[in-house]
Amino acid sequence: MSKKKREKKVKRLKIKKPKRELLRTPKGMHDILPADQIWWDRVHDSVIRAAGFYRFNRIETPILESASLFERGIGQGTDIIEKEMYILKTKGGDALVLRPEGTASVMRAYLQHSLGRLGQPQKLYYSGPMFRHENPQAGRYRQHHQLGFEIIGGQNDPLYDVQIILALKYLLEDLKLKPLVIKINSMGCRVCQPLYRRQLQNYYRRFEKDLCEDCRRRLQINPLRLLDCKNESCQQFKNEAPNILNKLCVVCTRHLKGVLEYLEELEINYSMNNQLTRGLTYYDRTVFEIFIDGLAGALAGGGRYDYLAEMIGGRIVPGVGGGIGVERIIEAMKIKAIEPPARKATPIVLIRIGEAAKKRALKTIEILRQKNIAVGEALGKESLKAQFALANKEKARLVLILGQQEVYENSVIIRDLKTGIQETVATNKMVEEIKKRLR
Ligand code: HAM
Repeated sequence: MSKKKREKKVKRLKIKKPKRELLRTPKGMHDILPADQIWWDRVHDSVIRAAGFYRFNRIETPILESASLFERGIGQGTDIIEKEMYILKTKGGDALVLRPEGTASVMRAYLQHSLGRLGQPQKLYYSGPMFRHENPQAGRYRQHHQLGFEIIGGQNDPLYDVQIILALKYLLEDLKLKPLVIKINSMGCRVCQPLYRRQLQNYYRRFEKDLCEDCRRRLQINPLRLLDCKNESCQQFKNEAPNILNKLCVVCTRHLKGVLEYLEELEINYSMNNQLTRGLTYYDRTVFEIFIDGLAGALAGGGRYDYLAEMIGGRIVPGVGGGIGVERIIEAMKIKAIEPPARKATPIVLIRIGEAAKKRALKTIEILRQKNIAVGEALGKESLKAQFALANKEKARLVLILGQQEVYENSVIIRDLKTGIQETVATNKMVEEIKKRLR
């Protein structure tokens, strides 16, 4: 075969190189890397504490739910339903959704499993990822993690609204996030809210042609969201819009008064904001948002949702709850220079010298692990310096040193890094000797 022919053949046989393009997380989604876990663990610890103090039991619901749960629960005219749901069609033709929030799912679970039979009200909490196809920006992601507290069943007593605010407040303050700014409003009920909605529509109709495109749509479908418009050109209309607090019926006024009286009794600062409407339509009566003074974006939000159960096919069951965004909490802790908790030190690091010790080292570590003693190691490294550097990094109290002689004698050297004193002990006495020194 000629050289030319051979080259041609080799070229033909050459496997096509894969495209050198580094694959990344989808837009608006992120990895939570090992270095960040310390913050997440800190939040998790506080959630467990808050749930324990306020007697909330954990509930987990699936990440995928029927699309109709949110279409009916969250309601038309909201950004979530109109633009932000991740919907997928199954092979069987079902429309499922990556959950955009947790409340509708928890209410579904309450109804589906008749949780009310276990006692009323049910106090439930959850944490997990939520998905909204939003425009990613600071503090706004397409996958975020939320912690939620819900009180479902029993009476629609203002006491429960305040217990939710208390649990969220406890959680944020336990994470050293303060001062908190709590904004409150009432959305009225089925009696008074439609009257207010009509009044708002009548007021806005006068300026319809001057409204932004979103507001013109909101005017038809969900007029309460007109009060949430951030568009500069709509601000003047918002400022002079009718005030919902002047339209509340007697029962809603009494409920709001009840909430405020509890807050005052507890000496919790709050500010009334009659333009707070929230982005989900299931709310009635109390709605609230919690901010950190000086930081943009709500860390937590929630309210009462006494009609949600009915909206998703159940009977009327009162409910109130609130959710906190974990990413936002962690970002706030970083901005406020709140130190992450110190990493737990590993009290013991094992150092090996030579190849024979490398084999024995794994076995030695397993003996200690079986006795619940955690051991740090850098067994893959030959250099003694690198192994001692790990002991320093881990802030170890003791290092165990295994060399060829120790392997041969079935022993190990225990060195106390504080005193510098070291001693050779038989392997079968190792656990006892370590425990003595750690005591
Ligand atoms: P939400 O206000 O939509 O309410 O979300 C609650 C919290 O989740 C927000 O205050 C924010 O910290 C965080 N959050 C929301 N969207 C994003 C995002 N795209 N990126 C990062 N963080 C975000 C609810 O979802 C209701 N289910 C809360 C509730 C519970 N109401 C009654 N019970």
